[in-house]
Amino acid sequence: MAYRDFPKLNGSFINLRELSVNDAKLITSFMNYKIAKNLYDVPYPYTMKNAVDFIRSSHSDFNSFNAIHFAIEYKSVNDSLPFVGVIGLKGIDLVNRKASLGYWIGEEYWDKGIATAAVQLVISYAFSELELEEIYAYVLLENKPSIRVLEKNGMNQIGEINEYHSVSGMYRTSLKYMIRGSDKN
Ligand SMILES: CC(C)(COP(=O)(O)OP(=O)(O)OC[C@H]1O[C@@H](n2cnc3c(N)ncnc32)[C@H](O)[C@@H]1OP(=O)(O)O)[C@@H](O)C(=O)NCCC(=O)NCCS
Repeated sequence: MAYRDFPKLNGSFINLRELSVNDAKLITSFMNYKIAKNLYDVPYPYTMKNAVDFIRSSHSDFNSFNAIHFAIEYKSVNDSLPFVGVIGLKGIDLVNRKASLGYWIGEEYWDKGIATAAVQLVISYAFSELELEEIYAYVLLENKPSIRVLEKNGMNQIGEINEYHSVSGMYRTSLKYMIRGSDKN
C-alpha cells in the first residue's frame, strides 16, 4: 500500500479528522452504557487506557489501511470545534472493494443530524476516493435511531443475524445493511 495522507473531510456542520491521543479523555467520558450496548467492539466499562489503545490502533490500522477511523468535530454556534464522536470504515478490502461502517456520537450531541452527516461524508469518500463498491453496516434490531441514520443515507436491509454480544453478555439480533456504489448513480 502506497503511503496516504490522512483525509480531512469537511461538511456543512461537521468535520472528520484523524484521531489524536488528546481525544482519549472525551472518548472515555462519552462511552457510557447507552452507547456501548449498541456497539460490538468496545469493552465496558470503558477506561482511559481503552481509549488510548483504540486511538493508537486506529493509527496502525490506517498505516496498513485495514481501517480508517475519524474523529467527528461539530461546528457549534460559537465557532468552537468540539470532538463529538467517532466514525470508521473497518475491514477495508480494496481488492473486493468493500468495507463496513461503524459510528457513535456522545449522548449530549444526539438528534442534531451529526451521525447522518458523518455517514454521508464517509460513504461519499469510500465510493469516490477509495472506489469501493459495497459498504455494510450491522445494527441491533432495536437501535431505531441508527437504523434511521442508515436508511436516510440510502442503505438497505439485506439480512439478519443472531450473534453473541459481549457488552450485554447475550445473543442479540442484528440487521445487516448495505449500499452499493451503483445505488448512488
Ligand atoms: C445512533 C446514533 C449514532 C445516532 O446519532 P445522531 O447524531 O443522534 O443521529 P441523527 O441525529 O443524525 O439521526 C437520528 C435519527 O433517529 C431518529 N430517532 C431518534 N430516536 C428515535 C427512536 N427512538 N425511534 C426512531 N427514530 C429515532 C431521529 O429523529 C433522527 O431522525 P430524523 O432526522 O428523521 O428526525 C447515536 O444515537 C449513538 O451514538 N448511539 C449509540 C451508538 C450506536 O448506536 N452506534 C451505531 C451502531 S450501528
